Amino acid sequence: MLKLAVLVSGGGTNLQAILDAIDSGAITNAKVEVVISNNPGAYALTRAKNHGVKGVCISPRQYRDREAFHEALLGELRASQADLVVLAGFLVAIPPSIVEAYPNRIVNIHPSLIPSFCGVGYYGLKVHEGALQRGVKVTGATVHFVDTGTDTGPIILQKAVEVKEGDTPEILQRRVMEQAEWVILPQAIDLIANDKITVKDGKVWIRA
Ligand code: GAR
Repeated sequence: MLKLAVLVSGGGTNLQAILDAIDSGAITNAKVEVVISNNPGAYALTRAKNHGVKGVCISPRQYRDREAFHEALLGELRASQADLVVLAGFLVAIPPSIVEAYPNRIVNIHPSLIPSFCGVGYYGLKVHEGALQRGVKVTGATVHFVDTGTDTGPIILQKAVEVKEGDTPEILQRRVMEQAEWVILPQAIDLIANDKITVKDGKVWIRA
């Protein structure tokens, strides 16, 4: 049974998709051990509570500096004995100390087709603002392993989503979530939980 630590910052719809997929059997051999938020007001923590899952807030404000915050985060991850760390809308950069502690054991959902609209400064609605500003006709979402760069790790799954005339960043964000994020994040977790994924030369290979 793969133990998951799910890291969140906001609404937690991706967390909800994971919890629902475990309940429905779309994800097998995995269990959410803990939900960790950097933001005490994150609705994701309420979702965890409603589901009977342990929720913890580790806010940078509680610590004297960034290093102490990172240590506390790593300490909580270790205490949970998580096998896989899932960044489900976690809008905090993961430091090298945590990446090195979990090599190819941290996955992130990003709301674009990487390598478009990703990297430093592209998170949440800003990603969709960028896509609309550029006028792309297709966008989507990507699940990838986390390395020490920003959105640069091996790509596990991607799904394309149409951009429509009249889209606002909010409308596009919702479509990308519904059609792509809530689909491919649970799928990727299921593949990892069932040992279907290998990483070689920075690329992901999926066994049928
Ligand atoms: C999601 O769209 C996720 O892809 C994005 O934040 C949102 C969180 O929503 N993540 C990033 O932009 C990471 N760079 P949620 O809290 O409802 O799951």
